Amino acid sequence: MTLGLALLLHKYHLTSVCQTNLSTYNPSRAVFMNAQLKHIQVGITRNNRVVRELQLTSFDDSNSARREAAATTKREVRAQIAEVGPRRSASSVAGGNLIKAVLNTAETLLATWIEVGRSTTVSPLINPSAAEMFTVGNFAPVDRECPPDENVEIESGTIPSCLNGGVYLRNGPNPRHEPDFGYHYFDGDGMLHIVKFRDGKATYCCRYIRTNRFIQEEKAGKPLFPKMMGELHGFIGLARIALFGLRAMLGVLDPVGGIGTANAGLAFFNGKLLAMSEDDQPYAVHITDDGDLRSIGRYDFNGALKAPNMTAHPKIDPKTGEMFSYTVNFVQAPYLNLFNVSADGKKRANVNITLPEACLIHDFAITSKYIVIPDTQIVFRIQEMFNAKSPVCIDDKKIPRFGVLPRNATTEARIKWFDLPDSTCFHYVNAWEEGDEIVVVGSTVSPIQFIFDQQDKMESRLARFHLNLKTGTAYKQEVASNANFDGEQFNKMYQCKKTRYVYGVLSGPFPKYGGIAKFDLEASQNNDVTQQAVVGWHKFPANCFCSEPYFVPRSTDPSNLEDDGRSTTVSPLINPSAPEMFTVGNFAHVDRECPPDENVEIEFGTIPSCLNGGVYLRNGANPRHEPDFGYHYFDGDGMLHIVKFRDGKATYRCRYIRTNRFVQEEKAGKPLFPKMMGEIHGLIGLARLALFGLRAMLGVLDPVGGIGTANAGLAFFNGKLLAMSEDDQPYVVHITDDGDVRTIGRYDFNGALKATNMTAHPKIDPKTGEMFSYSVNFFQAPYLTLFKVSVDGRKRANVNITLPEACLIHDFAITSKYIVFPDTQIVLRMQEMFNAKSPVGVDDKKIPRFGVLPRNATTEARIKWFDLPDSTCIHYVNAWEQGDEIVVVGSPLSPIHFTFQQSDKLELRLATFHLNLKTGKAYKQEVASNANFDGGQFNKMYQCKKTRYVYGVLSGPFPKYGGIAKFDLEASQNNDVTQQAVVGCHKFPANCFCSEPYFVPRSTDPSILEDDGYILTYYHDEAANVSKLLVLDARSPTLEIVTSLKLPHRVPYGFHGLFVTNEQLSNQKPSLV
Ligand SMILES: [Fe+2]
Ligand SMILES: [Fe+2]
Repeated sequence: MTLGLALLLHKYHLTSVCQTNLSTYNPSRAVFMNAQLKHIQVGITRNNRVVRELQLTSFDDSNSARREAAATTKREVRAQIAEVGPRRSASSVAGGNLIKAVLNTAETLLATWIEVGRSTTVSPLINPSAAEMFTVGNFAPVDRECPPDENVEIESGTIPSCLNGGVYLRNGPNPRHEPDFGYHYFDGDGMLHIVKFRDGKATYCCRYIRTNRFIQEEKAGKPLFPKMMGELHGFIGLARIALFGLRAMLGVLDPVGGIGTANAGLAFFNGKLLAMSEDDQPYAVHITDDGDLRSIGRYDFNGALKAPNMTAHPKIDPKTGEMFSYTVNFVQAPYLNLFNVSADGKKRANVNITLPEACLIHDFAITSKYIVIPDTQIVFRIQEMFNAKSPVCIDDKKIPRFGVLPRNATTEARIKWFDLPDSTCFHYVNAWEEGDEIVVVGSTVSPIQFIFDQQDKMESRLARFHLNLKTGTAYKQEVASNANFDGEQFNKMYQCKKTRYVYGVLSGPFPKYGGIAKFDLEASQNNDVTQQAVVGWHKFPANCFCSEPYFVPRSTDPSNLEDDGRSTTVSPLINPSAPEMFTVGNFAHVDRECPPDENVEIEFGTIPSCLNGGVYLRNGANPRHEPDFGYHYFDGDGMLHIVKFRDGKATYRCRYIRTNRFVQEEKAGKPLFPKMMGEIHGLIGLARLALFGLRAMLGVLDPVGGIGTANAGLAFFNGKLLAMSEDDQPYVVHITDDGDVRTIGRYDFNGALKATNMTAHPKIDPKTGEMFSYSVNFFQAPYLTLFKVSVDGRKRANVNITLPEACLIHDFAITSKYIVFPDTQIVLRMQEMFNAKSPVGVDDKKIPRFGVLPRNATTEARIKWFDLPDSTCIHYVNAWEQGDEIVVVGSPLSPIHFTFQQSDKLELRLATFHLNLKTGKAYKQEVASNANFDGGQFNKMYQCKKTRYVYGVLSGPFPKYGGIAKFDLEASQNNDVTQQAVVGCHKFPANCFCSEPYFVPRSTDPSILEDDGYILTYYHDEAANVSKLLVLDARSPTLEIVTSLKLPHRVPYGFHGLFVTNEQLSNQKPSLV
């Protein structure tokens, strides 16, 4: 709350107090008053019956003690005004009882209004229970100051020598007066708790910081100034401001000398200890020799700080000694002013930063060359008070961003903005330059809506924000998902420099702190499941909580050097090196099919009985022809690698899926059809399409029978094994008795599927046997078509879903009642080909979202959309209903730009997405930040149901897979630093990599444990050039290899797998019908 705001509202809304008279009240809630200016009564009536009477104020002059008290108060207020600010005219202060009567009447009416109107329309920012919480237990203020007290008992240990002679202070709210109309923790006056260390002993002291507000309210013996968070909401807040303005006009209080508190931050700068809150200028306080504290006064840098406020978190560069700081103007553009102050206290000129609207910028960061400021989702909209709301609002549609300005800039011209969803933090730890990037560290608040009044539900997880000054792109990387964490502490000698260790508090739950944790920022960069980012923690016993910690170095010797980091860059969709990578080593295709080969050597172990009679298949690209114009991994024709188990033995074979494209190109002996990812970009891509069209026109090829591949997904449905890619309809393949494979043909559900394509990831509900699927039209709205197919293969009517534009929807999810599909950031824009680009692009400005539609819906009318930044996944593991929520599991792509061409730099971290059908809100919760992970597999008996265990591959780096991990989704919900979400892990030796795993339950008995079963995966030793099929025990913490089958042929890296059981094979139909 700035003075500017107070005066503005005072100017425009003063009359609202005057209108707060009897006639404006609802007759059923009338207020009556006997205002002879000697005795005022206010009561509440309902239906003309007095239900409550309040005798609030008496100015009966016959009470001499009261008269004397009033006179004293008046004298003291006058004296105080003379001390802290410009004197008002005598006449304005005079007015005595009349003024007081008017003010107190207004106040009384306000109190009454609140009393009668509490349950009506006002929706305060702070929910009432939260306000209560902040006034009880150890949140309650202490009711008196404490001079230095030597009775500090050293229970254990000794005071470290680096603390000797020093003082530890902590600021806090501690309101001096009982809140009048509403209270929030942030509104308290500010009290410092001070421990001074000397010669192995300690003294304790606590003192209020004597702000202008504190002094005037202390004299008045009651609150006079409006409290931003607890009081200023709705019309009551407006009335409160008006009352404040009236008091200011009448000279009863002086707002010019400051209206805020000093309860939040602390800094030692230019020989001054500053206590600060962002609603006022700093206050200088002085620590005396005996460990006491005295307020010196409001500090405006010798008159140079014109704004009435300053951040509570200025930054001091330890190298130059300069202070960097800012002020926010809540009512007037440009809203933000940055400035710096030289080491000797000279404030430099402001640099105005234009924001679209005022927002809460509680903290920021500096590097050695730049200032980094957030433009947050916590916005100030004064007009919301007229809607009975708080002016402090959460705008969850706004994409938060970081502004980066050189420290030496004199205007905002050189600022660079970086949009970065899900990056609003209360505090930022530190920032530094690293290659082309600025790295900022902070704890994001999630969901942002809970920041003020439901902190116990808040998830705050330490993250790094990477802002690339060269490319203009930004991404976020979470540090640890098993710690609900806040705080901003680190070794301040590393301010502006790369920092490795961060200290802070663990949620107890918030706003209480149940422990202290230490993070290693480098651990999370390694994506090592064996390495926790939480490298130190201390959890306190039940009912014991702490404050934010502060790190003190043992000495000021700067010998603790840190490593240099890496840097990243962004390239076009198809990176020239990527096609090469996908055609060499074990990505290279095998050049011939292989008929059933019994030379599979069981290296060790035995084949588990649940596999007997079944077949394990894995799909993959394996292009039949050398690429013509360009190649991407996704463009290959599709080859199945099959192991059939029978009577303790196994046979292996591999077969192309004979798609329409494959058959025609095979005949022609060369590629004829355009390849979406590798070829169709820019003008060459257009030429390629034109050539294709010409060939089709001339009848050299037939596109009508399908132009795509079948290289990605596999499903067994209605007695048919389907091989699928999203650029064509499914193909039915038949597994023969001897374990060979024969392509039956393109499957359009007996002519019912009119679209030319279908997802490669349809979902089958194990309970109903229905298949849920969809097609995407890349050119024409509504773009997405959902449909289901009954267990006997009858396709039901399409449900068209209107999207703003075509996008890549590679996968989706179903629950027992809903279909959940993503509207992703990977968009298809054919027009981009004219800009020499690929039509497949990443739109990092688009907020991805989930659509949720009942499974039985026949139109899109009942769809619910949930915006959720940073939620674009290629694959979704599963989804289920949980209370009012739909929970979806997946691994979002980060940074999204790297999806196609720099997958080695991709960070994929398993997360749960929570979509609340009742409130319409959504949030994301990361499962484990120490594992770069994809390919979420699970026990398919749990499809549509709550799933606890997820299996997948670890980055080797991507697109290679260096190991297999098993996640416990319940672990991450506990936010327990001692509990890893990775409950099973098998990392392969150097140069050994695997394919996506597939989970096979030990039996179909529904009573067996969810994770009782085996994980199957193809494995390749690049050094020995040997491929194997591994069977791992899913319940073992090391995912122990129980069976290893050495294969007679090389199995290239590929896509998705499937186990077809003996029972399914016996029901197989060798036809399209
Ligand atoms: Fe703070
Ligand atoms: Fe896939």
